[in-house]
Parts: sequence; structure tokens; C-alpha cells
Amino acid sequence: MPSTIVILGTGGTIAGTAVDPSDNVGYTAAQRSAAELLAAVPALKGQAIECEQVAQLDSKDMDHATWQRLAQRAAHHLARADVAGVVVTHGTDTLEETAWFLHRVLAPAKPLVLTAAMRPASALSADGPANLRDAVAVAREPGARGVVAVLAGTVHAAADVRKVHSYRLDAFDSGDAGPLARVEEGGLRRFRPWPEGEALGLPVISEDVASWPWVEVLPSHAGATRAGVDAMLAAGVRGIVVAATGNGSVHQALQAALARAVAAGVPVVRGTRCAQGVIVESPAGARDAVLPAATAGTPWQARIDLMLALMSGR
Ligand code: SIN
Repeated sequence: MPSTIVILGTGGTIAGTAVDPSDNVGYTAAQRSAAELLAAVPALKGQAIECEQVAQLDSKDMDHATWQRLAQRAAHHLARADVAGVVVTHGTDTLEETAWFLHRVLAPAKPLVLTAAMRPASALSADGPANLRDAVAVAREPGARGVVAVLAGTVHAAADVRKVHSYRLDAFDSGDAGPLARVEEGGLRRFRPWPEGEALGLPVISEDVASWPWVEVLPSHAGATRAGVDAMLAAGVRGIVVAATGNGSVHQALQAALARAVAAGVPVVRGTRCAQGVIVESPAGARDAVLPAATAGTPWQARIDLMLALMSGR
């Protein structure tokens, strides 16, 4: 029975510190190592847990090179016979993007658990230690699998997790799907099956991240013009995700420019700006076949999907 848990540190507020312990917002992210975060959780003392620092950054600055390294290190540890699961400490700001990326690339048969915190490690009532404890409990759960996020006692599937609040401790939500499980005093109350999916595999993500295709997200909004699309086409964009209004509608000025992008061989996909839901096409057929609707939930997920599709030729 595998019993080792590996914690991969990447930074974030969970590893942040402030000068004043009562200051929950004026801090510097990514200051403490994964090993220091582990040492701050008495409940995990004596457990078979290894730490590895993959990166040390504020997740607003997450980049493809870090994603590439993180996917490689997670895959490496998950393939070890003695490892039950891997925990990734991350910033909250782009956690949902990293979770979706790892899900699409690895879709692991063991648990790959992302966790984070809304308050820095130095805060009077930091949430990071309890989140880390819960994440390790999920990574140890017999039968657990797939990429999930564990925050504020709730387990979210990578496909559904969204950061929905800028400040409160319970800042993540799974929208219509609802949470996958709750962690209650170290035990798991599960509502849905563990996530499954078809892994694209590590070979799809080249170590030469400069070769990863440039896919940009562009919002449709009041007063939208063609200028953004024209500038991106001139600069060599390889794919565009339009963050469309409501059920996938796009400003007419932008629509015309995006149709020109498609004609020029640049794929364009519509995602919705709405906080919840997906684009629901008319049963009579796609309203706008030129700009297909993304199958993924958010424009950020759709950006990852389009980038990976261009890389894998699918
Ligand atoms: C970050 O995303 O790295 C900073 C913000 C946070 O973790 O809450």
C-alpha cells in the first residue's frame, strides 16, 4: 500500500508573509518553502511526506515553463510505487488554470491535489495549515484519483473549480456541479465520483515552452472594436478565445474581425464571461458556426484547451 505523500511547492499566499500578522492583504506571496509550510502543521508531523520546491512565485505570474516543470515533477512522483498522492501548494489567483492544465495533460489515476490559502502564512489566523492538512488527507484517501482542489474544507474537481471571491476564506466554488466532497475532521464526505479524463500526456507539452502556440483571451464588451484582433493577428497570434457575453454573444465589431481571423487560419473559440454555466447552442444548430463554442467552462480553460489542441494536432 503506497503511503508517501509528495508536496510540490510553487509559492502563493499560502507561502506568503506580512510584516504585521494582523494584515491579511498587505503581504508578499511566495516567501516560505514547502518544507516550512509542512513544519507549521503539527497534525502532519511524523507522516511520510516529502517536499520539493518546483517554483516560488505569486500565481498571477504563473507561466508555461512552471506548468511544464510542475507537470513533469507531478508525473514523476505519481509514477512511484511508494507514493499515494501528490499535493501542490499554489496561489489562489490562477489555481483553477493550473488545475485544468494538469487535468488535461495528466488525468492521473492517483490524487493530484492543489491547495492554497487566502491569508499569508504569517497571519494571526492563517488558513494555509488547515488547507494543507486537508489536502494531504485527500491525497491519502483510498480510491481517490484525478486533479482536485482542496480549500476551506471543500474538495472541487479541476473541471469545476472557480475562484469566486477576492477576499473571503471560502473563496472557491464548483458552480452548478457542486463540490466533489467535504473534508470533515480528516474524514471525507463524498458527493460525486472522482474526476476521470483522457490524458494528453507529457510528450504533448514540449520543454521548449517558447514553441507553445500563443493563444489569447479577448473579451467582448460594450464599445468593442476590431483593433485588438487586428493587432494580435499582426503580432502572430495562433488562436483566440473570445470571452463572449451571456450565452455566447459577441459584439458585431469584434465578430467581423474574428471572422477575418478564422479566414486567415487562426482558430477562434467562444467562451462565456458569465461566472457560471456554459454556452448552450440552439438545437437547430450552432448560431454561429464560424465561432464554435468552447466545451470547457471558462475562457481560461478554453485557452488551455485550444493551446493543447494546437500542440497535439487534435
Ligand atoms: C497568488 O495567487 O499567488 C497570490 C494570491 C493568493 O494566493 O491568494
